[in-house]
Amino acid sequence: MYLQTKIKVTAVFVCAVFACVFLVPKGMMQTQTTTPQTVTAGQKFKNIKVLNDMPVDQLGKVMNIFSASLGVNCNYCHEGEDFEKDGKREKETARNMIKMTLGINKDHFNGRPQVTCNSCHNGHEQPTNVPNLSPVEEPGRPAQPTTKPTVDQIVDKYLTALGGTEKLGKITSLAITATRVEPNGKTTEPEMIWYKGNKYLSMTTYGKDVVTERFDGTEAIKTIPAHDITLKPDEAERIKREAELFSPANLKTIYPTMAFNRVDRIDGREVNIIVATTKSNIREVLSFDVETGLLARRTTSTPTMFGRFVYQVDYDDYKVVGGVKMPMTVKYSMPNIRWTRKIIEAKVNAPIDDAKFR
Ligand code: HEC
Ligand code: HEC
Repeated sequence: MYLQTKIKVTAVFVCAVFACVFLVPKGMMQTQTTTPQTVTAGQKFKNIKVLNDMPVDQLGKVMNIFSASLGVNCNYCHEGEDFEKDGKREKETARNMIKMTLGINKDHFNGRPQVTCNSCHNGHEQPTNVPNLSPVEEPGRPAQPTTKPTVDQIVDKYLTALGGTEKLGKITSLAITATRVEPNGKTTEPEMIWYKGNKYLSMTTYGKDVVTERFDGTEAIKTIPAHDITLKPDEAERIKREAELFSPANLKTIYPTMAFNRVDRIDGREVNIIVATTKSNIREVLSFDVETGLLARRTTSTPTMFGRFVYQVDYDDYKVVGGVKMPMTVKYSMPNIRWTRKIIEAKVNAPIDDAKFR
């Protein structure tokens, strides 16, 4: 198949692109689906016996949710890339588990996906049915402030912590050299990233092959060698947000609705949590470090029949570049897909031709 013959990539990369690329079913690559009724996995994939009614767009996400819930790779249930092939005991067990899970939710939770593979498996092949005898005490939720901070206070503190709107306004473009570090910590790929206004381009090099993501101000596009990709709406949104967030001073334009939710903790540090909604009605959760004011985490998710497919970005290691603070380490996490972008060099206001983003 294409994957092995034309492009030699790390297993991790294969996983990372599977969700968005290889799971585009045959015949859908070129066709624009404008039909209002949802195309199902049963209609588009070859050997679907239990997930027949699931919207086709969910299949890739759900397979990654299965893998992450059990702490396994695709190969645990599949042989190589012949995903339609049956024969593995685990795939058959998984079909029974799918039926069981859907049944529990139908019978007890009005069909809402409250019980998922992860509810029982929690990252393990074999669920544990006895309580842990030496539980680690979890620190409870931090004390909530008597007067809730306002969104304005949190956003203003963030912009001040970055260096202030005046300095932020002077930064019109950014050229970044980075490395993408895969979850094993050893495999790395070089990355180049450019920002200008609301435009974004990233180029990640896997051996001889380059994968690009871009936003030209209107449309998000992803390319991988010799393949056309139709991005799913949530994938296009992610690239678009990457572009928009180059200008943090526009935070309130990017998210017209923002509301303080609570104080919580990330890695022991207290954060102010804001629930924000974009113009296109995408809900994101923004966590700002209470002490430093800096953005620590951004989370969004897409619903599936087996729970939310969470997309999380962690910002860390802020350094001053061109007079303003920027995160030098950015960690991206989704079920079964993770990588870290480590910034090596960032050049501020270098001339960048607009054509680059097209
Ligand atoms: C825990 C088991 C399990 C894991 C792990 C798993 N799958 Fe699946 N996969 C299944 C089952 C079961 C089906 C068939 C569902 C059905 O019959 O409705 C399936 C079907 C598929 C199909 C549809 C094939 C077709 O044309 O009929 C694709 C594609 C697929 N999986 C890809 C993947 C990828 C990629 C991964 C890793 C990210 C993965 N799967 C991980 C169990 C698994
Ligand atoms: C209500 C709890 C529960 C849920 C929900 C659940 N499982 Fe399981 N699963 C189990 C238990 C318990 C076992 C072990 C059964 C045994 O050992 O006989 C198991 C075993 C399995 C196995 C076989 C593991 C092995 O070592 O052979 C697979 C594969 C599996 N589950 C996949 C899934 C998938 C995929 C989902 C979500 C669609 C899921 N399970 C949801 C409880 C659950």
